Amino acid sequence: PEKLILDVDTGIDDAIGILLAVKSKKFDLLGITTVNGNVSLDAATVNTCKILDLLEETEIPVIKGAETPLFREPFFEHRIHGEDGLGGALKDIPARNVVSDGFAPDFIINSILSFSGEVTLVCTGPLTNLALAVKKCPQITKHVKKVIFMGGVVKGVGNITPTAEFNAYVDPEAAKIVLQAGFPAIVQVGLDVTRKALLTKEHISKLKNEKLASYIEESTRDYQEKYYSRYGVHACAMHDPLAVGIAINNTIAVTEKHYVDVETKSELCDGQLVCDFQNRLNKQPNLEVCLEVDAEAFFAMFIKILNS
Ligand code: BDR
Ligand code: CA
Repeated sequence: PEKLILDVDTGIDDAIGILLAVKSKKFDLLGITTVNGNVSLDAATVNTCKILDLLEETEIPVIKGAETPLFREPFFEHRIHGEDGLGGALKDIPARNVVSDGFAPDFIINSILSFSGEVTLVCTGPLTNLALAVKKCPQITKHVKKVIFMGGVVKGVGNITPTAEFNAYVDPEAAKIVLQAGFPAIVQVGLDVTRKALLTKEHISKLKNEKLASYIEESTRDYQEKYYSRYGVHACAMHDPLAVGIAINNTIAVTEKHYVDVETKSELCDGQLVCDFQNRLNKQPNLEVCLEVDAEAFFAMFIKILNS
């Protein structure tokens, strides 16, 4: 199995991404690192532990990371993810899984250097932990196998401001550091594709594992309602699970390499990813952007894995 680190700000869809990664058995999950984002660092960590409990996983280390974005105040997304971050689904169940010592950026650095060329990193929250790792140890870019992150939007509109996607908006300076770090293989899974990965009640009805099905149903219930009131569809976007899905099987997405930068100094556009599709800046591509996804293939894989 491929060595993987998941870096998460565990809200509803991060949690389902963790379920998918663990159940896929495709990965040797070295650890799950947490970051503030949808909810506080502590809440994201507790939620991560609860999901591992649900899976009866006791061996996967959970390591805490950044409590705030690099230069900005935290900006939580309780509107979508609920007070607890999991749509209330595991609210009254205490977390048993124990948090490991250490700091996420150091764990990321040490893992990458210990297994040079072997570690894939999937980031589904603001990129603060990875940016801190890059700042402390810039040579990790040469030793990582691949980075896949959920964040940004290159052709569409934002989901937190008119132009910005949530993860990029919360810590745009971190996103900028990561994009400019010189990672040879880095894939962006943005709203351009994640808005096409829409989980419906029908998908949930195909899940055979009672415990996971009822968890997913409960956790996404309000999220689906909110998605319906904004977009008029009875579904909700599997942003983070799609990034995991692309790590499992990259043939479900169509990508293009471009130069992309992040706006950090604008009143209206902070956190916007600016993709130089026509190479007007004359720069080398620094990012593989996902432009299309086979959502049907993704959900077929999703259901198969969760039923395994
Ligand atoms: C991203 O923002 C968060 O609310 C989700 O967990 C996902 O990572 C989508 O914009
Ligand atoms: Ca997330």
